[in-house]
Amino acid sequence: MTNFFKSSIQIIDPLIGNALNGELMRQQNQIELIASENIVSQAVLDALSHPLTNKTLEGYPGNRFHGGGEFADIIEQAAIARAQALFGCDYVNVQPHSGTQANQAVFFATLTPGDSILSLNLSAGGHLSHGASPNLSGRWFDAHHYGVDADTGLINYDDAEKTAKSIQPKMLIAGGSAYPREIDFERLAHIAKSVDALFLVDMAHIAGLVAAGVHPSPLPYADIVTCTTTKTLRGPRGGLILSQDNAWSKKLQSAIFPGVQGSLHTQIIAAKAVCLGEALTEEFQIYGKAVIDNARTLAETLINNNISVVSNGTDTHMALLDLSALNLTGQQAQQILDKASITSNKNPIPFDALKPSEWLGLRLGVSAATTRGLDTTDFELLGRIISELLHNGDRDNSSLLERNKSKIMELCRKHPIY
Ligand SMILES: Cc1ncc(COP(=O)(O)O)c(C=O)c1O
Repeated sequence: MTNFFKSSIQIIDPLIGNALNGELMRQQNQIELIASENIVSQAVLDALSHPLTNKTLEGYPGNRFHGGGEFADIIEQAAIARAQALFGCDYVNVQPHSGTQANQAVFFATLTPGDSILSLNLSAGGHLSHGASPNLSGRWFDAHHYGVDADTGLINYDDAEKTAKSIQPKMLIAGGSAYPREIDFERLAHIAKSVDALFLVDMAHIAGLVAAGVHPSPLPYADIVTCTTTKTLRGPRGGLILSQDNAWSKKLQSAIFPGVQGSLHTQIIAAKAVCLGEALTEEFQIYGKAVIDNARTLAETLINNNISVVSNGTDTHMALLDLSALNLTGQQAQQILDKASITSNKNPIPFDALKPSEWLGLRLGVSAATTRGLDTTDFELLGRIISELLHNGDRDNSSLLERNKSKIMELCRKHPIY
């Protein structure tokens, strides 16, 4: 006999239950180096699986379209207050279902289809939702891009300024998913102002580093800031919209609801509140510092072992490897590391081919492994293992693979999760 309210997923739906168990074991037994991932706390997981998921609500705290919202209101107000305290801003919307939807809502609030926008090139580390041609943002707006300097791998601010002057964009966008260096927000804000463009910063990747005070905040410079609560912020899947002034607040509120979204994902907002509360602690500041130290150690170890790293280092949680000298594609490198239980992802490097199967980059991030407790000694070891595996390339060498895989398993045992 099963009980609808009490029987576990294993009994009700073994196919899905077993796949979930398999995923848990996968996470426990590999080192996660995908830069957009992290490992959330048990408290965040508790919020995500709470019966609050049953609650339908539209609107904002105190002004809902449905009854029974008193506890959801407490939760959403707490999430807003925590984000305000964490990032030092007045306007916060915690409802975006994703980073992409947060960006869409900003566009909906501030632009008209056909307007021109200027953002970081995809191959230079930009993001799809900033005007890439396959994305809605690329279809609806006249998207132009600035890039990085071929020699340094750093954003070419002169190029950004020149392009801004010539196309006069309505919006200048900063931020991306594979740019490993600090961005000069002040300079970009100045460029935006000089052409009367709005300045949007999408700090999805670095939000946790900004929260921990180990990376400059874009909030003093940007008109509007978006981010995800995943990645370095170490929360559930979802987005935030922030601003230091309330000039756009009314338009942003109605752009999220009823503009691009309907009802709230209330249990996710609870999980966002929990992660924002965690990010306000001293422990999180220590975590942020460890992320920076670990990323630098990983990048330096790779460079010392003759692996090329775009921009020759990192200021963030990620390093972007340039595999061109190794005669490997990003896809091959990802598969090689996979076999040793290291998870990563192929990525374009600046000026790379358009086809993902031909990309010559591999993106590595340290946020998740730092959460499980790996320190700089562990990251030196990881850097050596990755170098050895990549230098071996796709040659069959089972003893090298087994030796390195057992070192990875040892790291996993030393730093268990859940
Ligand atoms: C800079 C940036 N913006 C937006 C997003 C999109 O977030 P989501 O996957 O939640 O839509 C990402 C995700 O990787 C990102 O890196």
